This record gives sequence, structure tokens and C-alpha cells, in this order.
Amino acid sequence: MKTLALSNACPATLWFTGLSGAGKTTLVRALQARLEGQGVRTAVLDGDALRSGLCADLGFDDAARAENVRRAAEVARLMNDAGLVVLCALISPRRAHRERARHIVGADRFREIHVSTPLAVCEARDPKGLYARARRGELRRFTGLDDPYDVPTAPWWAVDTSQVDPSAAVDALLNQLQGRAQPI
Ligand code: PPS
Ligand code: MG
Repeated sequence: MKTLALSNACPATLWFTGLSGAGKTTLVRALQARLEGQGVRTAVLDGDALRSGLCADLGFDDAARAENVRRAAEVARLMNDAGLVVLCALISPRRAHRERARHIVGADRFREIHVSTPLAVCEARDPKGLYARARRGELRRFTGLDDPYDVPTAPWWAVDTSQVDPSAAVDALLNQLQGRAQPI
């Protein structure tokens, strides 16, 4: 461990929320590589990965998304307790669900990061073809189209990946993390 500010002894959960295609997974992967390079032990909880295993029984209605977020937060808490900095990448579209996650993880450890890339950009990227499928009516309850996304009102940090490339975003986020008086 080199830095006091990014300490395994004081682990945090960085909770990335944003639309599908906003860049959550890309940012989390890039941040994980940078933190691991600094000797910080990390774990990633990504919505797509969770939904292929721990949360494979869950769909996308409001109750299922609430349960998805709850499970991720419970796992994040356990991982923080084990000394890992946890990077969560979940759409987590409902404010109430995110506040519950904050409560589960602990407000002192929880950092909400809004990946605020606009819907039009996310839809133009459409890396998995999901927006096109949703527009054709093949997918229901797609976040930002026919399912709500509650924009964070006071995120700890925010980034629009249509304005900043991933490497610059990670630089800025690391500055934010290291510039804080309170270690993460
Ligand atoms: S949530 O809302 O937090 O429970 O969603 P999450 O667990 O992050 O899962 C989002 C990924 O699921 C895919 N997908 C959908 N997203 C939103 N709405 C609908 N209806 C949907 N159906 C499938 C999609 O790949 C999401 O991944 P990302 O990385 O966000 O694009
Ligand atoms: Mg993703």
C-alpha cells in the first residue's frame, strides 16, 4: 500500500449508476486496473455479471431491480468488511433502491457516482443492440425508454463519458478520491 487516501484498511464502495451503455463497466474496469496497480485490493460487482449468477433469478420489474440492488449492496458490504475496495456497476435506476444500498453498505463507505452520459448517446452506442431490440418491442421495461431512471440529485461524483474519455475520467476520479480529507 502506497497511499493513505486509497487504503485497504479503510475500504469503500464506489457505486456507479447510469443508463445502459453509459460507460459504467468500462470505467469500473479501468479504475480497477489503476487501483490494483497502486496496490489497492478491489472487487468488481457488475450488473451483467451478477445477473448471470447470483441474480440469475431476477428480471427487470421494480421489485426485481430492488432485490438485485439489495443483493449487490449486501455483497459489497461483506467485501468491504474483508478489506476490499468495491466497484459496483449497476444501472440501479431507482433513487430509493440506491438509498437502501447506501444504508446497507454504510453511509461512511458508500460513494454514489453518476455516469451521466445522455440517453441519446447511449442509444447511439448501443453496444449490445439492446436499445434497438427495445425500440422494436422485443424488450420491455428498458431503462430510459419504457422504464424510469431517477437521476441522482447529489452524487458524490459524476461523469459524462461523451465528454471525457475513460482514461481521463479515471484520472479525475482518482484525484477526487485522493484529494478528500477522509480516506476512502
Ligand atoms: S438494474 O436495473 O440495476 O437491476 O440493472 P443491472 O443489474 O445493472 O443490469 C443491467 C444490464 O442488463 C441488461 N438489460 C437491461 N438493462 C436495463 N433494462 C432492461 N430491460 C434490460 N434488459 C437487459 C443490460 O445489458 C444491462 O447492462 P449495462 O451494462 O447497464 O448495459
Ligand atoms: Mg455494463
